[in-house]
Amino acid sequence: MKVGCPLETAEGEKRVAMTPDSVGQIRKLGYECLVQSGAGAAAGFDDAAYEAAGASVVKTAAALWKQADIVVKVRGTSAAEEKHLRADQTVISLFWPGQNPDLLETFKSAGSNAIAMDMVPRISRAQKMDVLSSMANIAGYRAVIESGNQFGRFFTGQITAAGKVPPAKVLVIGAGVAGLAAIGTATSLGAIVRAFDVRPEVAEQIESMGAEFLMLEFEEDGSGEGGYAKPASPEFIEKEMALFREQAPEIDIVITTALIPGRPAPKLWPAEMVALMKPGSVVVDLAAEQGGNCDLTVADQIVTSDNGVKVVGYTDFPSRMAAQSSTLYATNIRHMLDDLTPEKDGQITINMEDDVIRGATVVHNGEVTFPPPAPKVQAIGKADAAPKPVELTPEEKAALEIEAHRRAGRRQFGMLAGGGLFMLLVGAYAPASFMQHFIVFAL
Ligand code: NAI
Repeated sequence: MKVGCPLETAEGEKRVAMTPDSVGQIRKLGYECLVQSGAGAAAGFDDAAYEAAGASVVKTAAALWKQADIVVKVRGTSAAEEKHLRADQTVISLFWPGQNPDLLETFKSAGSNAIAMDMVPRISRAQKMDVLSSMANIAGYRAVIESGNQFGRFFTGQITAAGKVPPAKVLVIGAGVAGLAAIGTATSLGAIVRAFDVRPEVAEQIESMGAEFLMLEFEEDGSGEGGYAKPASPEFIEKEMALFREQAPEIDIVITTALIPGRPAPKLWPAEMVALMKPGSVVVDLAAEQGGNCDLTVADQIVTSDNGVKVVGYTDFPSRMAAQSSTLYATNIRHMLDDLTPEKDGQITINMEDDVIRGATVVHNGEVTFPPPAPKVQAIGKADAAPKPVELTPEEKAALEIEAHRRAGRRQFGMLAGGGLFMLLVGAYAPASFMQHFIVFAL
């Protein structure tokens, strides 16, 4: 069978679903690879590199769609591309089936299969295909770089002959994949980083990355299904706003990443927070595509507030790092093809008994198979949540302390006895002059 990769048609999209590296891996699965001329150019991969890896370069999209049995893409299919669809053809891409019911019907009537990379269940076994994580990781990193570009100062503090520079203070709201990547990047650049999330289990992850977890004294666990957040109660949001109100005047850069699956992004950085910030501060809103966490966010634009705060609403952070994101995305696709080719014979098998393949397949053999049933395996966020420490009574604590003292005493006595025996042994055989020096040395 032939796996083909066309040039992305969405405006401004620079990523590509197949790289010269992934061509090598896909060919090992027994497939032939086709790539449309120029498909990788915006990501830094030219036709010659694909040819050197063993792919055939075809001139037009029409030729590619005609020949390919499996088409790999980044941004779903356009109306023009859907005209090429044929029965038994499989398209693997980001599809967002929840938001695109018409697209599912188009695939259904064409009799083609649609495998949505964004629907891969987030379970341990499927991490290698988890495009949401690989892209969110890039978005988090790039958000910090972009904020640095808009911010007029260093991230790290400096003391120089020309003056003292305080470190930048960064607040990350939402510590999912993108938030943690942003925390890692900002701390490594030397900023003071604080972070907040409704899911208390992320506190340890935040602290292990060198940031401070902002605690909210409130009895509510914001963790929902599958490691995601559930909507917070109005009382919780009120407390959260009070916390942010305290932070806003000191913070130089805010990176918001807060999302709740299937809902518009919660408004967590309203206009009043922006008004409290210093001029020259920056807000990067990674939730811009879902309506934004900040009131002032305009998708795909940078707006400057009346008090001189820049609010960045770009929605294409991964595409801004097309070489890196294409490499990771193409690797995710290659792993999906690996699972779809159990015999490694260049023949695709859509095994609907497999949790991961079932979850991602949204149209199969002329039938819409979205939404999938819940996976039998628990999402990693929950499964990997740190075990809660056991609460000890004061008596149990005292008993443990006494036992620890006793153990330390026994260890000391053992070491002294061992040392004395060793001295006696050396004294029995060594000359007197050596012993004098040795005792002084030992003392
Ligand atoms: P996301 O993009 O849906 O949300 C981002 C963050 O916003 C989440 O951490 C959420 O708790 C937080 N949030 C929501 N409302 C908030 C509020 N009012 N205030 C502050 N923060 C708020 O999440 P993402 O990045 O897709 O991942 C979330 C979790 O999913 C991970 O931490 C992990 O537990 C799980 N996961 C599992 C994977 C796997 O099994 N392969 C891979 C990646 C993530």
